[in-house]
Amino acid sequence: MSSRVFLDASPPSYQGPKDRLDKSAFHKTLTVLSARVPPNKTGQLLKARELKGALMDLPKIRSVVSDPENPNGSRLVLLRTVKYSELPPVAQEYLGKETQGLVNHEIKLDYDYWSTDDILQTILPGQLREGAPSGFAMTGHIAHVNLLEEYLPYKYLIGQLILDKNKKVRTVVNKLDSIHAQFRVFEMELIAGDPDYIVEHHESDCRFTFDFSQVYWNSRLHTEHERLVRMFEPDDVVADVFAGVGPFAIPSARKGCAVLANDLNPASHKYLEKNVADNGVSDRVRTFCEDGREFIQTIAKQLHDDPLPPFNGPALSRTRREKERRRARLQHIADATPNPVAKSRKRICHFIMNLPDTAILFLNAFRGMLKADEDDNLLDTYEVMPMIHCHCFTREMDPEKAEVDIRKRVEEQLGAPLEEDVTFHLVRSVAPNKEMYCISFRLPRAVGIGR
Ligand SMILES: C[S@@+](CC[C@H](N)C(=O)[O-])C[C@H]1O[C@@H](n2cnc3c(N)ncnc32)[C@H](O)[C@@H]1O
Repeated sequence: MSSRVFLDASPPSYQGPKDRLDKSAFHKTLTVLSARVPPNKTGQLLKARELKGALMDLPKIRSVVSDPENPNGSRLVLLRTVKYSELPPVAQEYLGKETQGLVNHEIKLDYDYWSTDDILQTILPGQLREGAPSGFAMTGHIAHVNLLEEYLPYKYLIGQLILDKNKKVRTVVNKLDSIHAQFRVFEMELIAGDPDYIVEHHESDCRFTFDFSQVYWNSRLHTEHERLVRMFEPDDVVADVFAGVGPFAIPSARKGCAVLANDLNPASHKYLEKNVADNGVSDRVRTFCEDGREFIQTIAKQLHDDPLPPFNGPALSRTRREKERRRARLQHIADATPNPVAKSRKRICHFIMNLPDTAILFLNAFRGMLKADEDDNLLDTYEVMPMIHCHCFTREMDPEKAEVDIRKRVEEQLGAPLEEDVTFHLVRSVAPNKEMYCISFRLPRAVGIGR
């Protein structure tokens, strides 16, 4: 059997500048041998056992081309070698018998031909090639990388490469390690493309628009967003204390929940409002821009005094709404109207608290949350106490120890032991010795009353 013939199709070593990628530096011409054959014989050559390992098989390069000297009369079957002497004897013999002769054929390779990894290998010095940062995360049209210090001198080359090789990318940023302490916004620097940070991102069938440089967004929380939303009943009221631009709030509202969504960052609040409107859930979502502590202390009473509308089915997309309206018109059915017997919603069923660094410290705000006004039946409304879903970090890696640690800190803030419906969920490992958890529990009645 023939052995594989070597052909060096790697890009030339990059000698260009580091502050911008000189694409013209990536050119290579391969002069390979090719076998001239009549058109009806190309299939036979491509299948010949004698030529195994000797035929052209570079990605994106055709192995049969028309013969420039006789375009209508013959074809060239390309070989993966530059020198005849490198072909195995069995291939030489076969080509001598079965073809009309061998001719040189030029293949021109350029920047567009090579993959991101191929090019990275030539622009980085030898010691940085292993572990080269070809991967990135996407939010809308923005690709973001988190470059280690040793790769920083090559950041513009890496950025340009990501931009050029990925059609959906328009902007490439390098996330810096610093993070805005309060609003959890990453500092970032532009390393390629447009300085346009307003993204449109889709998650859980909802459309989110936001300024990636001004608000918190983490696509890795997608499954956690879905997990909690799945837990809610469509007629529940959900209060999101640290709502960001709405990744819990909006999908919950789309399934029917009434939502009270709060975020202290004015930029998050602005996009939260836009996302509420864009996803057609303005009738069931109220937004707030308050400190989480104040929100927790006042929201139960506010909702009680001014309830949200009754559950009226899941929200439909704009196209589905139009379709339903047309169908109703054609069939002479009245448009869906609110269900007259359903009750307006005035009891919060769930609180979400995704600010893992400090959310536990906000739990003491629940003390006396229902004490607000003893005449107004707030306590009667809360015959069933709300569930709290509080995200947090722990340095305990053993699940049992992690639960003990989290429970202790939660109970300290509540000033009471947890009683009912307590569960712990490991959300993700954020560092080798740091885990993110979500503890869910029913607010002890004594805490709400403030005893
Ligand atoms: C980790 S992010 C979570 C955002 C969103 N829930 C999500 O899952 O993507 C925490 C959010 O809390 C907001 N935040 C920080 N401190 C706050 C406070 N004291 N009161 C209300 N919101 C706050 C931040 O602006 C940020 O949007």
